[in-house]
Amino acid sequence: MSDDKSFYSTFFYIMGALAVGCVILIVLASNITSEVAEYKPEEVVVANIKPVGSVYVAGESEPEMAPTEQVAAAAAAPAASAEPRSGEVVYNTKCMSCHSTGVANAPKLGDAAAWAPRIAAGMDAMMANATNGLNAMPPKGLCMDCSNDELMAAIEHMVSNSQ
Ligand code: HEC
Repeated sequence: MSDDKSFYSTFFYIMGALAVGCVILIVLASNITSEVAEYKPEEVVVANIKPVGSVYVAGESEPEMAPTEQVAAAAAAPAASAEPRSGEVVYNTKCMSCHSTGVANAPKLGDAAAWAPRIAAGMDAMMANATNGLNAMPPKGLCMDCSNDELMAAIEHMVSNSQ
């Protein structure tokens, strides 16, 4: 008899454990499938296999960009299209290599004597020479992405520090 008793207690213990396990699995399964239900395989697959670029015909409404493409486009946008750089920044990054040391007779920043005749010729003349190049001075001082305003600001920065 005692064998029967221990058999049943063990049996119900195991059955109880299985029942609890079942409930846990059901809860887990419904949690998992509730997320899966929002998964739309076709949309995802179409988005994944679509070409990287799309043809945009002028006049048509611009294609909408996926959020990831917008991020990429923002990152790829040239810094030049942002705010114009100050004359000091342009000078420090583009012009300093020659104009701080006087390479190839470049008028040095702070060298009033070297700048005086150029200043006397006027801003327009200096701007034209800086844009087109003059002897060893390369066109635009090698700042190919400089706007006219940025180039002008860099010249003004040098001039105002060389009087
Ligand atoms: C590769 C060297 C080099 C770089 C880089 C350079 N310059 Fe020059 N620059 C020269 C030389 C050399 C001259 C003197 C030219 C001459 O009078 O024969 C000169 C002259 C000038 C003049 C005087 C022009 C005139 O009318 O007499 C200006 C203005 C000027 N540079 C602006 C700039 C600016 C702005 C930058 C940067 C965006 C720059 N340069 C970058 C070499 C350089």
